[in-house]
Amino acid sequence: MSELMRPSFDLELIEKYGGPGPRYTSYPTAPQFSSNFQAVDWYAAIAESNRLPIPADLSLYVHVPFCANPCFYCGCNRVITRSPTAGDQFLDRLEQELALVAPRFDEDRLVRQLHLGGGTPTFLSVDQLGRLLTALQRHFPFAEDAEIGLEIDPRTIDPRGIAQLRQLGFNRLSIGIQDLEPDVQQAVNRIHDTAMVSSVFGAARAVGFDSISVDLIYGLPLQTTAGFARTVDTVGGLRPDRVSLFNYAHLPHLFKAQQRIDESKLPTPSTKLAIFRNTLNRLLDVGYEFIGMDHFALPGDSLVKARRDGSMVRNFQGYSTHGGLDLVSFGPSAISQVGDTFAQNARGLDEWGIAVSEARLPIIRGLSRNTDDAVRAEIIDRIMCTGELVFRDIEKIFQLKFRRYFADELEALEPLASDGLIEWTNHGLRVLPAGMLFLRAIAKAFDQYLKSADEQSSRFSRIV
Ligand SMILES: C[S@@+](CC[C@H](N)C(=O)[O-])C[C@H]1O[C@@H](n2cnc3c(N)ncnc32)[C@H](O)[C@@H]1O
Ligand code: SF4
Repeated sequence: MSELMRPSFDLELIEKYGGPGPRYTSYPTAPQFSSNFQAVDWYAAIAESNRLPIPADLSLYVHVPFCANPCFYCGCNRVITRSPTAGDQFLDRLEQELALVAPRFDEDRLVRQLHLGGGTPTFLSVDQLGRLLTALQRHFPFAEDAEIGLEIDPRTIDPRGIAQLRQLGFNRLSIGIQDLEPDVQQAVNRIHDTAMVSSVFGAARAVGFDSISVDLIYGLPLQTTAGFARTVDTVGGLRPDRVSLFNYAHLPHLFKAQQRIDESKLPTPSTKLAIFRNTLNRLLDVGYEFIGMDHFALPGDSLVKARRDGSMVRNFQGYSTHGGLDLVSFGPSAISQVGDTFAQNARGLDEWGIAVSEARLPIIRGLSRNTDDAVRAEIIDRIMCTGELVFRDIEKIFQLKFRRYFADELEALEPLASDGLIEWTNHGLRVLPAGMLFLRAIAKAFDQYLKSADEQSSRFSRIV
């Protein structure tokens, strides 16, 4: 699908295909990672990647796990603290982790991308963020035009801080807004007025950040179509380059803070759908393009270009313009990928910190893809990123007969074809406008590991 489409919206299809499913930021997905995976396996994968004729350049991720206050909806791995020493202690440990990992990569492998996520990276002061950047640059060579981005919570930074971040070398921002209505903010314990968001935004534009993206969530308590429309209109008026519109994943058995959400105040499924439909249409009407799943971007944005020319990829940070990079991640719960091998750090701050302070890799689980995993990963990536699958392409790369190898999967997709989500082409399959909201449901047909219905419903958020 080279042209970006306006997804169509059909209640019956949402009922049928909008149930739980993985987000496919990797395949196999993280629940498949094995605790038998050891540090030696990880070091071996890195060594192998160095030996390739052209080793991949690098994308770095650092998970900064702290927040000063709990947002009740939050499903991220974070530690709530106001300790003034937490930041520096974390950076001490992070430098220990860097010293363990970075020397394993050949020195000429350039960093093309760095992203700080969390938690709240701006829990750290500007000086501490400078220390973090310097440490990374001491260990890895950065490309001159590297994308250097971080997530910010508007409550934790002012316009002066934004200008300082730009001076440090950050060139991309992702601002967590979620919802601007006071009663919703109260219900989720995250209060920041529109003026605060606008001033952060204005400052970022003034000092020349290359790209600004914004996170919104629909499905939060007390949200209404009219209220969320006000948020969307305000956000649309700020013209962020990208908008992520997340479907609130309410999984209180997994995320304790969510137990503080009053479930009687959650919007009904029909209100939630109305909010989603309105937001989708409003964003498209004011000039945003639908990238896939929950992502929108302005036509001039690099993600739209990558989506059109087929170079967009999907990884742990969502959709990305940079394909073919090895991902090296630091901090608690961070996931790395080098070639076909994944490794995940311990989730707990203490467990992670103790390991690195004892000069042990903090990895607790991982996985090396076999050939079957790699084929399916390629197929799922193509569906999620381009909405199209040419069987011959897969046959050429993996030397198999597509229709024979995937006979069951193709049969499982028949109902989706009858319902107009996909169409069969001469060469393979193509996602239709009615299927654009259900990329995950289409990709799921190729997921080997999704066998039991139980597994599907307890771990994953709803697709729509
Ligand atoms: C690490 S946070 C962003 C940075 C910063 N901590 C902030 O909140 O502004 C990443 C994003 O995940 C999204 N998010 C968190 N919990 C979620 C949930 N339960 N369901 C859907 N999206 C969620 C929010 O939109 C949030 O901005
Ligand atoms: S949404 Fe952001 S600020 Fe709120 S608790 Fe989660 S990580 Fe922290």
